[in-house]
Amino acid sequence: MRIVSGIQPTGNLHLGNYLGAIRNWVAMQDQVSAGGGQCLYFLADLHAISMPHVPAQLSANTREMVAALVACGIDPDRSILFNQSQVPQHAELQWLLNGTARMGWLNRMTQWKDKAGKNREGQSVALFTYPVLQAADVLLYQATHVPVGEDQKQHLELARDIAQKFNNDFCTEDAPLFTLPEPYIPPEAARIMSLRDGTAKMSKSDPSDMSRINMTDDADAIMQKVKKAKTDPEPLPSEAAGLEGRAEARNLIAIYAVMAGTTVDAVLADFGGQGFGAFKPRLGELLAETLAPINERFVALREDNAALDAILRAGSEKARALAVPTLNATYAALGLVR
Ligand code: TRP
Repeated sequence: MRIVSGIQPTGNLHLGNYLGAIRNWVAMQDQVSAGGGQCLYFLADLHAISMPHVPAQLSANTREMVAALVACGIDPDRSILFNQSQVPQHAELQWLLNGTARMGWLNRMTQWKDKAGKNREGQSVALFTYPVLQAADVLLYQATHVPVGEDQKQHLELARDIAQKFNNDFCTEDAPLFTLPEPYIPPEAARIMSLRDGTAKMSKSDPSDMSRINMTDDADAIMQKVKKAKTDPEPLPSEAAGLEGRAEARNLIAIYAVMAGTTVDAVLADFGGQGFGAFKPRLGELLAETLAPINERFVALREDNAALDAILRAGSEKARALAVPTLNATYAALGLVR
């Protein structure tokens, strides 16, 4: 089993990022490396330039994300952790696959349609060919599995279509070049909502810092934010059905459940009938306890650009070694003399 997954480097990381993609990556790493498989995780910095961006922010976000990944448990000795732009084979393979991908396929991508909206003419070419780069990301390493949430399913399908067409057009039937990657359905990522509004996702761009728990928050800050979180005056119900129409209560209970590794019903079995005055300190403690070691590692590593760059350099070297044979075979299959 070889898993390949990318994440766009964003800054101001918070609990939502941790309980979403990052924790899944750590769980996959632990599972897959125990079974003798391999995980390749990368920062999709080449993808990030498909939208308007600030260069200094991109480098800062890339390093910040690496610090977060390592602080949360990605082990650069067990997983190959790198950034795309240090492995030029990604961009090279994308160009080679541009000959196979069809305009019609890309035109159908819902992410392209959503992001471009009514202004397709004004978008970068990179935004349009984004899914071809994503296909190159996984085909380059002969990935057997790619973890995909709902929003990335279509891009994985496209990678399979490109692989299939390339194998058909340029390989013999008994010697296909590209492995068709299978989806790896990760455990459902928790949708963490704002602490100020249970109907809005927890977000780095919410103007209120009280709406989120940042990866840089220490135990005191966490406790304070939880205690000030918006709630309602009713006591907690003893079953999940009783959370209907109580978005804030539902969110806090859901956070407790994922952090404790249990279910919403189990949490309510314990806390049903109690008020938030009793529940909030318990949630605050649980969060502070679990996040304290992560916060400590993150804050230290974030300041250490030399260490972060060394991690990326070492990971990129390993990734390049895995990428070169497939890239060479692709050049050869296309009749390119090198
Ligand atoms: N497009 C993905 C996202 O925004 C990130 C990504 C880039 C990716 N390349 C990938 C994910 C390859 C999986 C495999 O979430």
